[in-house]
Amino acid sequence: MLFRKSPEKFWNLIASKYAASPISDIAAYEKKIEKLKSYLSPEYHVLDIGCGTGTQCDDLANNVKHVTGIDISSKLLAVAEHRKAERKIENVEFIQTTVFDERFEPGSFDLITAFYVLHFYEDIDEVVRRIYSLLKPDGLFVSETACMGDKNILIGKLLRLAGKSGFLPLMSVLTTRQIEQALEQAGFSIVDKTKFSESNDEYTLLAKKL
Ligand SMILES: C[S@@+](CC[C@H](N)C(=O)[O-])C[C@H]1O[C@@H](n2cnc3c(N)ncnc32)[C@H](O)[C@@H]1O
Repeated sequence: MLFRKSPEKFWNLIASKYAASPISDIAAYEKKIEKLKSYLSPEYHVLDIGCGTGTQCDDLANNVKHVTGIDISSKLLAVAEHRKAERKIENVEFIQTTVFDERFEPGSFDLITAFYVLHFYEDIDEVVRRIYSLLKPDGLFVSETACMGDKNILIGKLLRLAGKSGFLPLMSVLTTRQIEQALEQAGFSIVDKTKFSESNDEYTLLAKKL
């Protein structure tokens, strides 16, 4: 099956397995969510890009006014809807779409998060500029994503080749520095850079719209 033109088919195919796999480092995850909460306000509108099963959306919902979780996979979003209903959360909505959806108006979010999804965009500068435009002045953006360029370029290149051939969704081989540069060029100031887990190499970047 070829996923190049329809990556959502890949995510739908692995949705049950993905949804059943536990968070790899729960202590690090909880530390990250606690830190994020310290930046939140009860009036905040939050957008979570590539929300998957909606875990982060649900975990932030109590501390903000509204969370919009977006994802391309209908099957992962169905899991997200189910979990939201189980937890009786009312201020989270899930939409099957991407960040370029024109229904999202410039300057409409206080916080945008993107966990493990930016490397699925072909043009990091374009997506970061779009995120910048969707934020209110002083709005915050949190990114944590796979940076194969920092650790194993060979595996990154093989994954990219598999993406180009259509066997996997297309991935970019990013470095942390590349993301930082895209953020700075778009007009963000990076206010925090933390590695929460010892078991992976990814940094969580917190950037503020200047
Ligand atoms: C590795 S998962 C991360 C899910 C979740 N953010 C997390 O940290 O558990 C990547 C997610 O991004 C979604 N995705 C991939 N490309 C996307 C795009 N262009 N726009 C929105 N979501 C996308 C996939 O469907 C999948 O749910």
